[in-house]
Amino acid sequence: MSSRARILPLLVVAAMLALTACAPDTDPDWEPEGWDVTGRVVTELPAPTAASMPTLTGERLRNDEVGVSARWATLPRHPEFNDAVESEVRAAIARQEETSGVAYQPVAQAVGAGLDERGCAPEATTQPASALLGEGLRERTVVVCEIVFAAGDVLGERLRIVQGRADEVTGDEVVTVYADTATGRIARSADLVGDAPALWNDIVEVLRREAGALGTGPIEAPSETDLAALHAALADAVFAGEELVLPLPAGFTAVELEGLAAWRPPGPDNPVGVALPRAVYEPLLTDSGRLIAAAHGSYTGPQASGPAPAPCDLVPCMAMTLDDGPGSLTPAILDALHARSSSATFYMLGENARRNPDLVRRVADEGHEIGNHTWNHPTLTKMTDDEILAEVRDTGALLRGLSGQPVATFRPPYGEVDDRVLDLVAMPAVLWSVDTRDWAGPGDAELIAATVQAPRAGSIVLMHDIQAATARAFPAILDGLRDRGFSLVTVDALFDGRVPAGIVRSAP
Ligand code: NI
Repeated sequence: MSSRARILPLLVVAAMLALTACAPDTDPDWEPEGWDVTGRVVTELPAPTAASMPTLTGERLRNDEVGVSARWATLPRHPEFNDAVESEVRAAIARQEETSGVAYQPVAQAVGAGLDERGCAPEATTQPASALLGEGLRERTVVVCEIVFAAGDVLGERLRIVQGRADEVTGDEVVTVYADTATGRIARSADLVGDAPALWNDIVEVLRREAGALGTGPIEAPSETDLAALHAALADAVFAGEELVLPLPAGFTAVELEGLAAWRPPGPDNPVGVALPRAVYEPLLTDSGRLIAAAHGSYTGPQASGPAPAPCDLVPCMAMTLDDGPGSLTPAILDALHARSSSATFYMLGENARRNPDLVRRVADEGHEIGNHTWNHPTLTKMTDDEILAEVRDTGALLRGLSGQPVATFRPPYGEVDDRVLDLVAMPAVLWSVDTRDWAGPGDAELIAATVQAPRAGSIVLMHDIQAATARAFPAILDGLRDRGFSLVTVDALFDGRVPAGIVRSAP
């Protein structure tokens, strides 16, 4: 706080005491003219506070052809919140598509791209726009995020969207998306205040008093530009105890402030904010704004306990499939997946599921998908109709009973399938586009390198959770794939819940 800001409240109190002393004591409603707004100017802006930071699922995308990169965070089982956040990302991509003339599609990067670190980071949204755009001559769009509010059931994620080059910033927007996780209600920062002109009036009043204005004449209604500045301030707003602190965007000004000797518009070296007390800001809020203002204490909403379904239209998705288990190596595979917020599909054998019922349940409980790999791994094309039906029906019934999941796809052993088998089984036959040959005795380094390099967006990768090399290499494989930007999802999620009939080898 500047010395001026420290002294000012004392002056105000002294002046009020003096005025009160000479006010007629017969009129209890009397107050000094023009002093009905009691906010204050702050020059040390509060950091966004979240008493307890919720665990979210981090997302990240990058497409150099279009010139866009984005980081955001989602909350499993809260599609309203995720849709709201992702719609901001989609809008940013759409604008950059127009700029570049290139249509966006999710693509994986080369090995070593460094995309494993995902989601929001503290102070990510308060960096200079040029720093966010980084080096490079091409115009691009960068989206970063920060969790700025987490109290009670309410969560607030701020997104900053910058466009241009480091030496020429052409766009710079901030929006905070709030969610009441108890009701699913969503509000954007611009929706917090119902009476924007009144808020503008209050802010300018505080600023001109601080800047030494002598008059208290009416304040002009805000222009379109002024309202944009107000929305930027709301996107950065911090509910700090009994005050609403509005950090003002660089260059903020008003006609009433122009020409005041002590007025210096905010900028990188001159942070200026206005703090309004509850009695002043509360009447201006919408229902959503009041709901957020009322949330306090530790965050009590949901935490991410497993991966949220990845938006495969935004990020490159692939499906890791693990065949022939479950068995003694399956827990290590599950641990590796859990530690990396990744999902997989396990094509289980009936005979192994019967020996390891707890593993079937664990696979399902941890959010993975279970598919049918027959009872004991025969070549289906060489069997009679009745034998094929028995293999698949018995396995399906056992897996459904143990997991509580629908078992909606099958994988024919050795990939051997024909029209007769497809007709009898009447489920999609999920094959693969990447065969790691992990059963053929590769060295660990060789297995890791090949499995990390081969997939593209939409790939279905074949591995076996009964192979020791796979269990050993699996953590490094997942790290390598995530580093390339992949989200690892179930086969069902790869097709957005609509796996096509017939033989499937990859998603389009
Ligand atoms: Ni198999």
